[in-house]
Amino acid sequence: MADGSITDAEFEQAGLRLAVDGPVATITLARPERRNALTFSTWRTLARIGDTLPGDVRVVVVRGEGPAFSAGIDLRLFTAEGVPGEDALGPRDEDFIHGLQAGYLWLRRPEIVSIAAVQGHAIGGGFQLALACDLRVAADDVKFAMKEPALGIVPDLSGTKPLVDIVGVPRALELCLTARTVHAEEAARLGLAELVVPAAELGKAVDDLVAAILAVRPSTAVAVKRLLREAPGNTLEQQAAAERREQVVLLRELSEPS
Ligand code: ACO
Repeated sequence: MADGSITDAEFEQAGLRLAVDGPVATITLARPERRNALTFSTWRTLARIGDTLPGDVRVVVVRGEGPAFSAGIDLRLFTAEGVPGEDALGPRDEDFIHGLQAGYLWLRRPEIVSIAAVQGHAIGGGFQLALACDLRVAADDVKFAMKEPALGIVPDLSGTKPLVDIVGVPRALELCLTARTVHAEEAARLGLAELVVPAAELGKAVDDLVAAILAVRPSTAVAVKRLLREAPGNTLEQQAAAERREQVVLLRELSEPS
């Protein structure tokens, strides 16, 4: 549409729903009969959600309907029949892939905290979507697997960076090349989930986390995320300087009459 808003038909084709309730936006992967398999429309619509998100949204929750968070790319894209309404998966250039990556990359921006609520399978593009979020709350039936190499491709939805940041290169290599499943206990141990809860308590655990985040002053939360995100790339001195920069602004704000 001319104003950039997403039509019901576009949400339907993408297998997505969006609910915005004040400072909290909830994106639901809503194709449970296909275990929330992902298509090009899903990734492009996610990018448009990021582009059109109201400025006062502070937390974005990404959840999946049904028994699985997401079974990854819709495997019908690899067949001659394809998926109705979707491009064929053939040789593609980098711009094409960049357009798909845009669906995940915005989940890291400092103005929001993104939370993946993950139950059941999170495979390939589904695993990468969970990794694209700042935080992962997992149900105790979670099953993460990076299946792309088994299909002859690399994980290309920006997932390799957070995966390596969290588990390190050797473990990331092992997970990608074996495509094995990581269950809840190991996911918690590796840091792939900040929290693991009984499946029936996933929604409540996410609600509690959202409430805790919203209790922090908005500009403080933004500053903390920005500061922590840049820490791995900084020297100690650079990071100390970044702390000073952020703090000076916050202290000025706090001393202003409200
Ligand atoms: N693409 C398209 N359809 C899918 C996908 C998928 N990725 N995953 C599941 N479905 C469909 C099934 O074909 C089935 O359809 P049907 O009811 O018409 O037969 C339906 O969803 C339910 O799937 P089941 O296999 O019956 O569900 P179950 O809960 O037993 O298993 C599981 C779920 C483990 C996710 C299994 O479906 C599976 O292995 N799917 C493929 C996963 C995969 O390899 N994804 C690619 C990752 S690589 C990447 O994302 C780039």
